[in-house]
Amino acid sequence: MAYETIIVEVEDHVATIKLNRPDALNALNSELLRELGTALAEADRNDKVRAIIITGSPKAFAAGADIKEMSEKSYVDMYMSDYFGPEGGAIVSTRKPIIAAVAGYALGGGCELAMMCDFIIAADTAKFGQPEINLGVIPGLGGTQRLTRFIGKSKAMDMVLTGRFMGAEEAERSGLVSRVVPAKSLLEEARSAAEKISEKSMISLLAAKEQVNNAYETTLAQGLLSERRAFHALFNTEDQNEGMSAFMEKRSAQFRDR
Ligand code: HXC
Repeated sequence: MAYETIIVEVEDHVATIKLNRPDALNALNSELLRELGTALAEADRNDKVRAIIITGSPKAFAAGADIKEMSEKSYVDMYMSDYFGPEGGAIVSTRKPIIAAVAGYALGGGCELAMMCDFIIAADTAKFGQPEINLGVIPGLGGTQRLTRFIGKSKAMDMVLTGRFMGAEEAERSGLVSRVVPAKSLLEEARSAAEKISEKSMISLLAAKEQVNNAYETTLAQGLLSERRAFHALFNTEDQNEGMSAFMEKRSAQFRDR
């Protein structure tokens, strides 16, 4: 499928979606988020794809929602279109694992998009921020909620109220990103993580993602029960048998998603 604002490449089992509005530092407009939702749904449907990477350019993952697009809108426009609500929903409803590979600016909606992915690998050049306060607004795509869950109230308040940027080191120390790598090897590292994921059983990948996400939605007791039941259910799969047999036979497992 041809897209205007993103570039999608499928190589082996990994779909890489590159945000591609270089003149606007990949600012997220309605078209880009619509195309991203379509590409993610397509990757979810494509049996060949087992892991997804979302990335930007060396200068910017995404510098936020498109301020030029938003600037003319009224409350009624925003409310009636539920601005970026459905688009955000389409991203988080993707079932396959998504890695955000972030270099340069991940600001506002860009930081929020990275947080909607399953984990973030950051280049040492990455800069995260929620600078919406400088525009007389607040984050609107999860920044006040997800950032607080990731890095805690004090740091989230600091970021959201001052609008300051956080470098890659601080982001890793704070739990926002899973690892920091040299900028030149960002895509290589993300691909290698995605390929490692691709070797697993898709059944256990989907179950694992669901259960980790569940940790944000339930009480501890409900989450633990839900995890245990999903763990038990995996004993009804051929892949569980294959994984455990392979371990005992000292060979690598050949999962077949059954
Ligand atoms: C539209 C943007 C943009 C944005 C950059 N550009 N960010 N256009 N929306 N968010 C455009 C600039 O206008 C400029 O285009 C070009 O990209 C290059 O940007 P410069 O500012 O010239 O680059 P630089 O001096 O290097 O500064 C980089 C920057 C700065 C620090 C990232 O661009 C910046 O502060 N951007 C805005 C960041 C921001 O406030 N994000 C939050 C947005 S609100 P021209 O044509 O002028 O050359 C948000 C809400 C989310 O995200 C919730 C939605 C529901």
